[in-house]
Amino acid sequence: MAKVLLGVSSSIAIYKACEIVRELKKANHEVRVVLSPFSQRFISPLTFGALSGNKAYVDWEEDPLLHINLPRWSEVFLIAPCSINTLSKVALGIGDSLLTTCALSHKGVLMLAPAGNVEMYKNPAIQENLRKLKERGVIIIEPEEGKLLCEEEGQGRLASVERILDWVEYAIRPKPLKGKRVLITVGATREFIDRVRFISNFSSGLMGFSLAKVFRWYGAQVKVIAGFTTAKEPPEVEIIKVVSAQEMYQEVMKHLEDAHIVVMNAAVADYRPLEVYSGKLKKQEFMEIKLVKNPDILESVGKVKGKRFLVGFALEERENLKENALKKLSSKNLDLVVANPLESMGSEAYEGFLIFAKGKRVDIKAKNKLEAGERIVMEILEYL
Ligand code: CTP
Repeated sequence: MAKVLLGVSSSIAIYKACEIVRELKKANHEVRVVLSPFSQRFISPLTFGALSGNKAYVDWEEDPLLHINLPRWSEVFLIAPCSINTLSKVALGIGDSLLTTCALSHKGVLMLAPAGNVEMYKNPAIQENLRKLKERGVIIIEPEEGKLLCEEEGQGRLASVERILDWVEYAIRPKPLKGKRVLITVGATREFIDRVRFISNFSSGLMGFSLAKVFRWYGAQVKVIAGFTTAKEPPEVEIIKVVSAQEMYQEVMKHLEDAHIVVMNAAVADYRPLEVYSGKLKKQEFMEIKLVKNPDILESVGKVKGKRFLVGFALEERENLKENALKKLSSKNLDLVVANPLESMGSEAYEGFLIFAKGKRVDIKAKNKLEAGERIVMEILEYL
């Protein structure tokens, strides 16, 4: 999909750069690698050449214009790990190696994923350089907090491969949703019967998290209200955790004001026990649990949505899918209903269709939920 130039500089986190190359390739990106002179003492360019399928460079070798040609070829220049030294050289415009001169001549998106000792990273000179880079539009993939190799605790650990890859996906997409705020509900609610038992469902949150990722890739500011989930949380997205449908309702109403697009993907329990036993219920021959209806969050939002674009989901048996989806579209005042057959739950592949309020229908088949999420977002963008 994209042409990614990966710069690798000296840090013990360099072993993660091998995985970054592999993951970029898995995601269908073309990768070329340029190493800083010192970094080949950790890992040879041969390794990066084999992993990327393209010769990896430390020096100009036979091409004196390599520092122009490599950046000209690439759409994204990602330096990961970016040592504190390389970070400062890029900030100050120093070109004393192939890697740093590539950073000088690169015109596309420049991304740095720093890694280093916490005290070095906190150093005022480095912080000033970071500020400068950010002001110039360089994307800094902040290092993570935790125990560092030097036995110290703090910020300095190279961002996870998953986060770095997510930033690459972000960097290569246009930003038509810049300035737009998206509110998404995700996952299953839990309705407690006693202290240890609850009513819930199988929702993993994968579809909602995928949508959250994709909305961010296209420039939106995303807020997620999440019930219980088993899917991996999307990076760089604000997630507010809730347990019950009532809590989810309250959080949605609290954050609705700000939102331009509202996507209700959560599998909300329609009922909750009338009373929650404060301890643990003992078993009996028969047991009756009285249930009361939970608020229908989607319906409530539909009543007050104003100009917001409201998306609901319909999970139904295949035979009545279209009929019930259409019912939901009109009764809950939606702009779009995403109709999913029951079989889509828990499956890797996705098959379903969209019906917009103005009648347009789009069928979607995708190999996974992330791809389906991107198709859904693209359709919303075209519609808007
Ligand atoms: N939903 C909601 N609040 C509820 C129940 C559902 O916001 N209490 C939302 C879901 O997030 C989803 C949509 O409503 O976007 C459809 O949910 P679904 O459970 O399929 O249908 P219901 O609305 O509950 O209708 P029915 O049970 O009649 O199928």
